[in-house]
Amino acid sequence: MTPSLADDIAEVLISEAAIEARVRELAAEISRDYAENSLHLVGVLRGATIFLADLVRRLTIPVTFDFIAISSYGADTRSTGIVRLVKDLDESVESRHVLIVEDVVDTGLTLNYLLEVLRQRKAASVEVCALLDKPARRRVSAAAKYVGFTVPDAFVVGYGLDYAQRYRNLPYIGALRPEVYGG
Ligand code: PRP
Repeated sequence: MTPSLADDIAEVLISEAAIEARVRELAAEISRDYAENSLHLVGVLRGATIFLADLVRRLTIPVTFDFIAISSYGADTRSTGIVRLVKDLDESVESRHVLIVEDVVDTGLTLNYLLEVLRQRKAASVEVCALLDKPARRRVSAAAKYVGFTVPDAFVVGYGLDYAQRYRNLPYIGALRPEVYGG
């Protein structure tokens, strides 16, 4: 039989239908909150692309969006806490109402860095919308105003989230089998 990506998933944690319903709710809330202000979304490559693509299509207000990529110095980020800018935004955020769109807030290091950068660049306001929040792994304080789901400290993949760049195209969020990542 042809191997399937789904064979590596131990458990579906959040179904496609549950994601779709929650994205609609978040979009309704964001559309209400930004009814008076033009909204500029900043998607964090690469994990947030799928969430952002679905979210923007449910927003009923005019929006613009741009992307940024953040990475680590070597493989040791999680212990050193050092992050760096890999791909900058194309547009200025000065005086704009910015909403950072993330797939997951884990240690909080990425978000912390991004919030600092966007504030330095004089955005009018900066808020965060994260599909997933993994509070058990937090190392620095980082709170998202809009959160899709709070998840336990499992190795989650799908709907943009990867392991070794794979599984991003699964339409749901699942826990990876430990034998896949050597856990
Ligand atoms: C992941 C995720 C967030 C970040 C969260 O990105 O998309 O951007 O890590 O982790 P943190 O809270 O511990 O900083 P990753 O660097 O894996 O890149 P990717 O989006 O391309 O998968």
